[in-house]
Amino acid sequence: MEIRIGTVDEVRREGCRVVDVDGRSVGVISVGEEFYAVSDRCPHMGASMCTGSLSGTFVASAPHEYVYGRDERVLRCPWHGWEFDLETGRSLLEPHRSGLRTYRVTQADGHVVLHT
Ligand code: FES
Repeated sequence: MEIRIGTVDEVRREGCRVVDVDGRSVGVISVGEEFYAVSDRCPHMGASMCTGSLSGTFVASAPHEYVYGRDERVLRCPWHGWEFDLETGRSLLEPHRSGLRTYRVTQADGHVVLHT
């Protein structure tokens, strides 16, 4: 199913728009030129992920080296700080146990289209 959730300009301006998809809340998030969509419900205790924050994280590097990367591709829950990879939805701490469902997002005729 394809859902037009608003214009590209509107969603960019808001940063995140929550839409209802068959009773589930999905957050469509604008980052630079891209859009991502994830379940808006944190798997820990249900906070709205759209009210969280975007940042990066330390990425794999040589021993004793700390390299910051993935800027604005890590979504942090506003309640207790669980962090998720915006592209895969997986938890950074426990990727095999926890995560957010992700959805494909495209653009058509100046609109943001969510694919469910
Ligand atoms: S509700 Fe998201 S980390 Fe607790």
